[in-house]
Amino acid sequence: MVQDTFFGPLILIASFVSSFPSCGVSAASGFTGAGYPKAVPEALAQRIRAAPAAGKEFSIRLLTGASTGPQLDGALAQANGIAFRAPYNGDSTLRARINDGSTLYLDTHLGQVAQKARQGQYGKPNIAIIEAIGVTADGHLILSSSVGNSPTWAQLADKIIVEINIWQNPELAGIHDIWSHVCLPPNTQFIPLIHPGDRIGNGTLPIDIERLAAVVITDEPDRNAPFTEPDQNARTIAAHVLDFLQHEVKQGRLPSSLLPLQSGVGNIANAVLEGLNNSQFENLTGFREVIQDGMLSMLESGRMTVASASSFSLSPEAAQRINERASFFREKIILRQQEISNSPELIRRLGIIAMNGMIEADIYGNVNSTCVMGSRIQNGIGGSGDFARNAFLSIFVSPSTEKGGKISAFVPMLPHTDHIIQDVQIIVSEQGLADLRGLAPVERAREIIKNCAHPDFRPLLKDYFEQARKQSFGQHIPHHLPSALAWHQRYIETGSMAG
Ligand code: COA
Repeated sequence: MVQDTFFGPLILIASFVSSFPSCGVSAASGFTGAGYPKAVPEALAQRIRAAPAAGKEFSIRLLTGASTGPQLDGALAQANGIAFRAPYNGDSTLRARINDGSTLYLDTHLGQVAQKARQGQYGKPNIAIIEAIGVTADGHLILSSSVGNSPTWAQLADKIIVEINIWQNPELAGIHDIWSHVCLPPNTQFIPLIHPGDRIGNGTLPIDIERLAAVVITDEPDRNAPFTEPDQNARTIAAHVLDFLQHEVKQGRLPSSLLPLQSGVGNIANAVLEGLNNSQFENLTGFREVIQDGMLSMLESGRMTVASASSFSLSPEAAQRINERASFFREKIILRQQEISNSPELIRRLGIIAMNGMIEADIYGNVNSTCVMGSRIQNGIGGSGDFARNAFLSIFVSPSTEKGGKISAFVPMLPHTDHIIQDVQIIVSEQGLADLRGLAPVERAREIIKNCAHPDFRPLLKDYFEQARKQSFGQHIPHHLPSALAWHQRYIETGSMAG
């Protein structure tokens, strides 16, 4: 698609970077390592490092769509330039800052960020930095490899800086669908999306030229993590999930094209998608927040007809495939702002099958997705809460052990909970699948211990459950409080949950 491009004033990075207010709110494009600004944050990090007594002398409150990459979160965290971060992080340097207390972190459901920002919960952004692949003659941005919260940041920020990234394929133009009717209650409108493939908005994002502070040209690639082949555990978990879906179809509880699929990122999700691609299911659809490698293959094979998301999260090889076949994928993929891709109302109405990773679950099937040993953040809740609570089927997957068998992913009690019993319907490990639908807490516990726990930990979990039933204050969700968190404490003290 040919676009007329208009470049506003091209100002040297150094001059406008000096106008960033310390402790001001900066909002950036970007979602799962795609479509985030690169040049301006790197220049800002340089400025912070050069400042006298570098560090907390100058720092910003940073908002994005979700995780970004080394040039944004990584560079600013290295310079200790992020005082506050929301709504999600996947960068290891920033993770260390959050866990040592030098950066404050507000981990937030990704579908809720835009509305919270419009309410003013994060403060008014002074600056929005948005990556695009072009600007049309009438001042509309053609966004790049993610939409995320860019429409909200462009609406709210005092000033807008646009990074035109010439590494991105200009033929992505047309893949975006930006719905402009989002507002706060009581003016909220019905989102007119009936099928994952519906386009309900515009392909470009109008911005107020009066607030455009600068346009910068960059050519840096997105953070594309190399694809790692699913390991044996991931393949076994994927096989359990596929058996379960086939069974549901046979029982008449799911149509043969299933329902729109959401799956988290990573090894297990890719194994499930690979399994689906080699299955007999046809005319599958995706409704989720990211497009990863496995989904591209399904679109290419025709197994999946359309995928709706907010962003890409691809290996370099898959990004290359998108670049080479942009006009093909543009017809099969729709990138939306995250308050649409993760809208609880749409997830409920479309009847999504949600599959997400977890850190651990307790014997009753509460799930911890975010905090190792209850206090160290791993990434964040991301979209898992948006999807799990509202999905038609909510599935959580994990290997049964971690750290070479020293940690059980199934424990007596969680030191931190993200997803409660009511939002967790099915749990799968390489040991098997626990179908928890319609079961009371003590029935759930028996299923999880029997089907999902590792044999090394299963007897210990049974012992705990029996002791809890004898000594609990109540019998609805039996617990023996003095030993409920002992496994975690033992790991912290000895490096093994088993002792
Ligand atoms: N106890 C302690 N550490 C654990 C653990 C447990 N029970 N389970 C996992 N970990 C550690 C791993 O050892 C690994 O640590 P490392 O970085 O030191 O190697 C780290 O957590 C990541 O685990 P990994 O096995 O690589 O898991 P993953 O890539 O499948 O991710 C989550 C699992 C939970 C971290 C990931 O799914 C997540 O962030 N979920 C929340 C967001 C989300 O669901 N988004 C979905 C919408 S796209």
